[in-house]
Amino acid sequence: MSSERRKSNHAEGLSGKRILCVVTGGIAAYKSALLVRLLTCAGASVRVVMSRAAAEFVTPLTFETLSGNPVHTDLFARRDRPSIQHVELSEWADRVVVAPATADILAKAALGVADDVASTVLLAARAPVLFAPAMNEAMWNAPATARNVERLRADGRIVLDAGSGSLACGAVGPGRMMEPDEIARRIEESFAPGDLAGTTILVTAGRTEEAIDPVRYLTNRSSGRMGFAVARETRARGARVILVHGAVDVPVPAADETVRVSDAAGMKRAVAKAFGSCDVCVMAAAVSDFTPARTSDAKIKRTKAGLAIELRPTEDILRSLAKRKGGRIVVGFALETENGEANARRKARDKGCDYMVLNEPGPGTGFGSETNRVTVFKGTAKLFATPVVSKEEAARRIVDALVRDRRLGKRRR
Ligand code: CTP
Repeated sequence: MSSERRKSNHAEGLSGKRILCVVTGGIAAYKSALLVRLLTCAGASVRVVMSRAAAEFVTPLTFETLSGNPVHTDLFARRDRPSIQHVELSEWADRVVVAPATADILAKAALGVADDVASTVLLAARAPVLFAPAMNEAMWNAPATARNVERLRADGRIVLDAGSGSLACGAVGPGRMMEPDEIARRIEESFAPGDLAGTTILVTAGRTEEAIDPVRYLTNRSSGRMGFAVARETRARGARVILVHGAVDVPVPAADETVRVSDAAGMKRAVAKAFGSCDVCVMAAAVSDFTPARTSDAKIKRTKAGLAIELRPTEDILRSLAKRKGGRIVVGFALETENGEANARRKARDKGCDYMVLNEPGPGTGFGSETNRVTVFKGTAKLFATPVVSKEEAARRIVDALVRDRRLGKRRR
């Protein structure tokens, strides 16, 4: 289902749902009052937990009035049953939404710290949890925050994108909380039966490492982020996901089957084995085009004469899969440093892929970056190009395009 169609029956999907809102201490807490109002107006039953810091920004009375339920601010409010309250709240909820999610709560949740009512309900939550981050630009861009977001996503939590715009600190940049109506829409969307239910998606990610000798190898700069974002997105939308990955720099997300490979030959074997049972194969891995003709059993010693390593081409996995794809949809990725669109079209045609996703490394895009700008082709016809967006958002748009493909509809069981 496209984002547009999902938008159209807004509100219906929230009726009767039990939403636990966790409000933490940021100025965006005032916007969460509107979120609670939107959710209750849509027929959801809402309970609110506030951190001590959140209560400094907006009073619990505001949320009590809007939700029509008592607000929980203290882990020990019920002296008779201190540990019960958060467990009951966590069990009660169909969805938990943390808005605003400060850098502090992201860090606590990523580590499993439970030292107040907000962090404790999160650790105990079994329902899907959505985080709507809000903080200043420096905190949002801090490596620790990026690590925590990555960890939470790998744990299956949904971390919504932070928007760009004017921040309360006066700066303009990323770190702004997503608008309440968009957060409500994402919560609603998380209840929709997955539009990929009944399909199996094979996703490859990361880089291969071609051994030169026992200690050295030939590789590239792929981090695994883009492929992992596709794996998470397709799984969140109900697909059975088989993830085949090489070396990566980020936590491996949950999948229905996971195969770790080291080199191009291993990638080929693992993909060939899984291909028969998939409906869609997304080849996001950066597979080495060359491998040493011989791998030395012993470490190659330094010589004065220098060293020439003979390389032989690896098999083009994508091309060989596309030849025997039958009704399956095969998606390739093309990394181009020049003549991007022309090269992507040529690759789509030569390799016989149904879709080609073009990546052009530049500021904020490509290997190692958390953001990307992609151009998607159906065969050789350009479908759309994104601006620089998070890799999660790029994955959403790619998957939206696949879901619209008639062939996928026919294969959905
Ligand atoms: N690919 C593959 N097997 C290989 C090399 C690449 O299946 N041995 C796949 C990648 O997973 C990607 C697509 O082919 O989906 C394009 O990879 P890319 O490196 O951009 O293209 P190449 O065909 O390797 O061409 P070149 O490196 O010359 O640009």
